[in-house]
Amino acid sequence: MHYAAYFGHQRLKECFHKALEEQQNVVLQAGSLSDSVRDFTVSVSKGLQQSPPVLECRFLYDARGSDLYEQITKQPEYYPTRTEAAILSERADEICTLTGPCTLIELGSGSSVKTDYLLSAYQDRYANICYTPIDISAHALKDAGRSITRQRPDVQVVGIHGTYADSFPLIRCASPAMVIFLGSTLGNLTPEEEQAFWSDIAANMQVGDHFLLGVDLVKDIDILEAAYNDRNGITAQFIINYIRRMNRELGTKIDLDHIGHVAFYNPGKEQIEVYIEFLKDQIVTLPDDQEPIKFACGERVMLEISRKFRLPQVIGNLASFGLHPVRTYIDEQEWFGLLLLEKRE
Ligand code: AVI
Repeated sequence: MHYAAYFGHQRLKECFHKALEEQQNVVLQAGSLSDSVRDFTVSVSKGLQQSPPVLECRFLYDARGSDLYEQITKQPEYYPTRTEAAILSERADEICTLTGPCTLIELGSGSSVKTDYLLSAYQDRYANICYTPIDISAHALKDAGRSITRQRPDVQVVGIHGTYADSFPLIRCASPAMVIFLGSTLGNLTPEEEQAFWSDIAANMQVGDHFLLGVDLVKDIDILEAAYNDRNGITAQFIINYIRRMNRELGTKIDLDHIGHVAFYNPGKEQIEVYIEFLKDQIVTLPDDQEPIKFACGERVMLEISRKFRLPQVIGNLASFGLHPVRTYIDEQEWFGLLLLEKRE
């Protein structure tokens, strides 16, 4: 498994194509991430000056953030991962039969643990399986790539270190393909971002390609809130780690002992909202000699939303992008849904 340098869109596409043809195991780095500190600086400065202030959740996943997220998925209160994994383990063979042989492209692959049910099923049934994990965390991608090539030497791995948007033009080169988007990461997009996401995806999928989507469903508020307020405090550490990263990379000098994590369900918007709260008055220093920003004790900054879904609405919306359900799987408690969709005319 080797790393190839940062590429612009056209070059990335050519290298991806070549890697598929030559069956290389490689991680290609998208040019969009070549100056991540600059990107982070611009995002934080803009977000904190907004009213109400916000921070973009995509920066949660530095090396420590990715590890903490992995730990969250193992907390007893965080049901989505194990519920989705149980559905996948039961249905992987059927999904594999329904799609036929195809390139598996996973958006936000993280540790790729759940995907292993699919890799195992596809590998048992078809020859020359290619798996393309896409993630903004180089650390998570490297670990996942290494463990897959070790455990499944017959599976070709072409990782993309980049954003979802970097990967969209690649779907075309990989057809027949199944795009995999698990863990209800869709819920971390705003409704507007979600619509733009589907429009870009659909424009790059060919008729007959598949999409496997995991969505967390609307349910009892206590279950939802417990999942984002685990007793071991791992979610709190995950959120505070964002501020640690800001201090380290941007020099914001926030006193970590005087910020807290707040997460609750907003029933009107059917979403979990996650904030950091200042526990004393603080002045946040910004890079590039920008005016520092004052935050009063009790003030909150929104860091993440996690929308919860209702299947009929999801299916209705996707039909407008030419994505139609082939199978819909739900666990017994009706907490989590897995949709296998097909792109039609
Ligand atoms: C990655 N994503 C689907 C997680 C979620 O549940 O929205 C992120 C997370 N944030 C706090 N806990 C988990």
